[in-house]
Amino acid sequence: MEQDALRTKLIREILTDPLFTDRVLHRYFKWIDKTLAPFVKDHFAPNKSWVGKPFTREDAMFFMTSLRDLSRTFTTGRERTLPRYFEQKKYRSSYMLFFLPLHASKFISVLLSGHEPMESLLFDWTRGEKIVLGDFGSGPLTASIALHFYLSEFEKEFRQKFSEPFPLGELEWNLVDLDKTVIEDGLALVRASFKEEIILKRSKYIVRRENWGAALTDRKAYHLSMFGNVLNEAPQFREAHERALLTGFPYHERTLFVEPATENNSHRLIQVRQRMLEEFKGDVRIFGPCLHYELCPLRSGRDWCHFSIPLEIESKWYKFFTYGLHHTHFEWVKMSYLWLGNAKFKSTRNLELAKEHTLVVSDPIFENESRKESFVLLCEPERARKYRLGPGQKLHRGDVITKISIDPKSKNSTKPKSTRPA
Ligand SMILES: C[S@@+](CC[C@H](N)C(=O)[O-])C[C@H]1O[C@@H](n2cnc3c(N)ncnc32)[C@H](O)[C@@H]1O
Repeated sequence: MEQDALRTKLIREILTDPLFTDRVLHRYFKWIDKTLAPFVKDHFAPNKSWVGKPFTREDAMFFMTSLRDLSRTFTTGRERTLPRYFEQKKYRSSYMLFFLPLHASKFISVLLSGHEPMESLLFDWTRGEKIVLGDFGSGPLTASIALHFYLSEFEKEFRQKFSEPFPLGELEWNLVDLDKTVIEDGLALVRASFKEEIILKRSKYIVRRENWGAALTDRKAYHLSMFGNVLNEAPQFREAHERALLTGFPYHERTLFVEPATENNSHRLIQVRQRMLEEFKGDVRIFGPCLHYELCPLRSGRDWCHFSIPLEIESKWYKFFTYGLHHTHFEWVKMSYLWLGNAKFKSTRNLELAKEHTLVVSDPIFENESRKESFVLLCEPERARKYRLGPGQKLHRGDVITKISIDPKSKNSTKPKSTRPA
């Protein structure tokens, strides 16, 4: 029992230590240039003379052409009309060079954003329990790779701090995609990236060439399920997909959806959130982004729920490709996301949080042409509330502020400070 109390304490300490975040990110950024780019060059080499050589500017130019094509397809929403893009090597390779690191950084950001969702999973893992993971619409294992970095760094820190030997459970990765080749590319990358590491030794990978909707209806139990940029590829995201998500939900302790930050994708996640709440009521826990469980104020109208995470992806090649696609901002990653827990988690803690805090869901909006007066939208049930910013006051999308700080009637009202409560 004492050991369990110590285990709980250490896990919390690690997850709330900013150094842990730094270590995960540092290692991840380094990996992009050191491992990922040379891996793609070797793995997709058009001829043998490329193999084993460093990744150069000429290589980057070579992959840039197909990356531009692919990016155009995604940004014009044509991925649904080009559903088999991963059948072509040129698209798999360019995706792995740019979209994989971009999307994985979003998963890493959400995983690192709070300790609560992952605490009990890590507790079970470090007591020897088998952990079952799902990557639905995995592509080249983007979400799984993010989780490998997170788990691997956690395991190292825990081993240093926990003085007794401990059993580490097996990790069963269910990799589900319609395209088997791209899963296999991702697996080769995982093996090249984590070779000799405990995480690889404890992992079993199950390649499932399957429709994610069908895979969810088998009622298999998962500790964590991840969906990365996949709901947006469902041609008719209606009955069948929604039913599959509802069928699977009670069996998945944690579910994380990350989607592009566009209006359609955000509305789809809002729809999923609403259906889950209607169907499972108190047996749904929302870890993020929402603080309340009422109707989403951004379910319709001009604004939609998405976030810009301040995260500069420190990689020479990632920046090269970003420039090549004519994007000039490196300091943000944008996404819509939904991070849920099932009946295993109590929803009451969130309710307490929502009593005292509110979430900023827009950047400053200027009211007149002089650009002097601005307001932000706050996520209140049913209707977003306008909060007028004072001179020099800075609040941004994703900030969490205390309600008391913005209540004009309260003696304690102060300039709101942005925090995300742990
Ligand atoms: C944009 S990629 C996302 C890959 C990865 N999750 C990421 O975030 O980078 C979408 C992936 O979903 C897969 N996919 C699309 N519809 C699917 C379905 N109904 N069942 C399983 N996989 C699907 C595609 O083959 C592709 O690998």
